[in-house]
Amino acid sequence: MGRLDGKVIVLSAAAQGIGRAAAIAFAKEGAQVTATDINGEKLKELDGIPGIKTKVVDVTKKEEVDALAKEHNHVDVLFNVAGFVHHGSILDCEEADWDFTMNLNIRSMYLMCKAFLPKMLAKKSGSIINMASVASSIKGVVNRCVYSTSKAAVIGLTKSIAADFIDQGIRCNCVCPGKFRTTCQETAYKDFMARVKIGRMCSAEEVAYLCVYLASDESAYVTGTEQIIDGGWRL
Ligand SMILES: NC(=O)c1ccc[n+]([C@@H]2O[C@H](COP(=O)([O-])OP(=O)(O)OC[C@H]3O[C@@H](n4cnc5c(N)ncnc54)[C@H](O)[C@@H]3O)[C@@H](O)[C@H]2O)c1
Repeated sequence: MGRLDGKVIVLSAAAQGIGRAAAIAFAKEGAQVTATDINGEKLKELDGIPGIKTKVVDVTKKEEVDALAKEHNHVDVLFNVAGFVHHGSILDCEEADWDFTMNLNIRSMYLMCKAFLPKMLAKKSGSIINMASVASSIKGVVNRCVYSTSKAAVIGLTKSIAADFIDQGIRCNCVCPGKFRTTCQETAYKDFMARVKIGRMCSAEEVAYLCVYLASDESAYVTGTEQIIDGGWRL
């Protein structure tokens, strides 16, 4: 028996990092996973894993998001992962950086949630997981101005959906990692390690375990939360 047997899960940004680790973890627990990403080449690496089907989708394009939703009769879990880190303070952030980040990190979640929620409401059941970050309304982090702004908005969107649909069987939570190793440059790694008290970085797989819990019925009483997984970075 898998913890996600029979569940249909759609997620974005599955070609690498947390999205990839989560797609594999979901499938291992018995879910039928639609793993999407804009990067078709890298996404192909998931082809052939039992329980996973892949599809190239740009989550910033409404027509592609709507087409993806149309392909699914019902969806039990939606995991919105796609996001981009712009480095810099407000003074380093040009309007194009602001627009690009807000478009990918938060507007795409609005499009995905809006497209998939009606399918969940039809069954009066569903779990939405949104990828936020500790760098958000939770913690001020240097040189993450627009990134933190967008992730704070993810937390707001999450709580709003959780409140609006709690009596219709929908749960909505967000995951707030600190830093994990996948994309980290050596200098950023040293800088982070100087501050993280647990003595190591998180792995994408450890974030994926948390997502399995949020996707499963084990978390049936959990909604509207910010699930922090930061190795005590805030301490
Ligand atoms: N890496 C970290 O330390 C960290 C920490 C906290 C939060 N996060 C968040 O976790 C999420 C995943 O981060 P990661 O580092 O695992 O991923 P990553 O940066 O390694 O990969 C991002 C993926 O998103 C895909 N993508 C980019 N634009 C897209 C679009 N328009 N449509 C669909 N897919 C698109 C890319 O092709 C890529 O596969 C992001 O939202 C990020 O902000 C990451």
